[in-house]
Amino acid sequence: MKSPFDLAEKTAYQAWRDAKLQALPDRVGALVVEISDPRNPTLAERQALLSLVSRANMAVFAASSASCSKETMRQFCACFGLTRLDANQLADDDGISPLSVAPQGTRQRYIPYTDKPIAWHTDGYYNSMENQVRGLVLWCQQPAKEGGANALLDHELAYIALRDRDPAFIEALMRPDAFAIPPNEDAEMTNRQMRAGPVFSVWPDGKLHMRYTARTRSIEWNPAPSVQAAKKALEEILLNPPFGLFEHRLEAGQGLLSNNVLHTRQAFKDDASAPRLLWRARYYDRIHESQ
Ligand SMILES: [Fe+2]
Repeated sequence: MKSPFDLAEKTAYQAWRDAKLQALPDRVGALVVEISDPRNPTLAERQALLSLVSRANMAVFAASSASCSKETMRQFCACFGLTRLDANQLADDDGISPLSVAPQGTRQRYIPYTDKPIAWHTDGYYNSMENQVRGLVLWCQQPAKEGGANALLDHELAYIALRDRDPAFIEALMRPDAFAIPPNEDAEMTNRQMRAGPVFSVWPDGKLHMRYTARTRSIEWNPAPSVQAAKKALEEILLNPPFGLFEHRLEAGQGLLSNNVLHTRQAFKDDASAPRLLWRARYYDRIHESQ
């Protein structure tokens, strides 16, 4: 089959693009699926989630009970083919991390463990290319008192918006040296060497992957004019996405099941007696779309 991500395949791209935009959920509420038992979602619940993931690379699940053990989260994720966890040095030893404001310790240095806003990124952009995060699951145990919503954008839509403007932007961002992360300067990593890689890549399963962060420190973008122009165009698109921008604040019991789509996080304010707590699991797997 011809790949829509091949710049030479204009017809395949147009057909895929048009079908993608046509099938796009039109509001964030359309992404939400209620699930009765997270350890074992029913066939109908799984199908509803997978249908959304196939259209939008993400879905929001809403469990009736907010309390989630790691084991429950692991079981839920395994139902969608997510099994290979990305363990890192800050995770609680097994690759599932509690995200909350860290009062002290190593985590406090890293922005996910603060109440500050986080700009557009995909998770694990500092990982080696062999260990890219393709599946990302968040599960909210306790929302913040105020704020903490996520903006969400299917990375395939960022690709479309860029390619529609100029296919040369895609070519530039698929360079294997589009940007690099210097050693040991980012959070949550075991990075001992410079890690260069592309923004967009097409994987052996034919799916598009995106590696991106809007951060400006501890990152080295390729100075080539083509890459700089593409980076600027992507920044403009993320500032005002032409389609498919969702904003959602996960409530207790709600979670995001995603193929590591682009996301941000708003700043938030905690209730001291019930601080915001999200569980996060990062996987080397994409969500398996057929059950
Ligand atoms: Fe993230």
